[in-house]
Amino acid sequence: MNNFEFGAMVLQMAPRSGDEDRPPAPRRARPAKRTLVARRKAPLLRALNGYAADLEAGRYSQPILGPVAAALAGYRARVSRDEWRETVERDLRKHPVVALLHEDPYTSYGFRKTRGYAGDAVLLDFIYGGGESTPLLEGASAMGAAIYHQCLRHPSSAVIRARRDHLASRIAALCRKGGQPDILSVACGHLREAGRLERDAVPTGRFVALDQDPATLEVALADHPSLALEPVQRSVFSLLRSGQLLGTFDFIYSAGLYDYLSDDFASRLTEKLTAMLNPGGRLLIANMLTDFPGAGYMEAVMDWWLIYRTAAQFKRLAGRAAGVKRVRVYQKRHIVYMEILKSAA
Ligand SMILES: C[S@@+](CC[C@H](N)C(=O)[O-])C[C@H]1O[C@@H](n2cnc3c(N)ncnc32)[C@H](O)[C@@H]1O
Repeated sequence: MNNFEFGAMVLQMAPRSGDEDRPPAPRRARPAKRTLVARRKAPLLRALNGYAADLEAGRYSQPILGPVAAALAGYRARVSRDEWRETVERDLRKHPVVALLHEDPYTSYGFRKTRGYAGDAVLLDFIYGGGESTPLLEGASAMGAAIYHQCLRHPSSAVIRARRDHLASRIAALCRKGGQPDILSVACGHLREAGRLERDAVPTGRFVALDQDPATLEVALADHPSLALEPVQRSVFSLLRSGQLLGTFDFIYSAGLYDYLSDDFASRLTEKLTAMLNPGGRLLIANMLTDFPGAGYMEAVMDWWLIYRTAAQFKRLAGRAAGVKRVRVYQKRHIVYMEILKSAA
């Protein structure tokens, strides 16, 4: 240390004359955690107040749904999971904008969980447009109908329709190859992808449609009379115990199910479904990615909580599957797909 540095250190350490008589300056207290949380959520709540005022004043033709969903997504991305859940429960659920958004039959149907569980096939029909959602839209107020149409156009709905179309294109490609493949749709819902198939790509082998919900299977059967569907009313939980009773398949697929399953159950189900493939058969499963744009709106306004996964997290679910030749993971518009190809023999 040279003399200059030593001198500077002494100067810093020595009290200035008169300092020793002054009371120590009060240390500025760090804001309590609750104050920090309140500060973080204040802009969100102010923005939501503005959207509530717009809706109350009848200004629902202007974009509302997109900005509300974006504000919720932005806040959700900035805070921890615990803080997000706490804000949803303490502030958002009772916010006036939520009651106004529930004028939309789709949003309120999702929130009410009419069938006793989240994400039933009727809710998906609201997203696809038509089907079982049509009668439920008839009594909507002008504001409810306007919000619904904004939901329908929102990117998160477009993503779900793209998922349905992707499944249809995979089934079509398989059928066009010939050979009457046997197909199993797991948690089939209303099987809307089948409605997207052109005449030259209709499955002619076994087509088993499995869902836990009997009312859903009735609609699936009634709405696809050109398919020789075999409905199976079962939960995937029972599939783990006795899946072999259904036989084996060339193509098994599932969309809108893994988003509800824990990692442990999802990997056991993947193992089971892979075991139910014929040699050379394929399993295709889908999961929403963590950047899904509607997640904040679905959780805060519709009380619809999914398990979003990264591609790497999703790929790990294949870890227990046996007899696998190749695992391919690919992403399309906020959805991750995993395709497992079973070894030929
Ligand atoms: C979000 S919908 C998806 C329907 C369809 N796969 C689609 O993509 O449109 C979820 C479906 O999974 C079914 N489901 C939920 N849990 C299930 C379980 N444990 N076993 C079988 N089906 C289940 C529901 O009844 C519902 O029809």
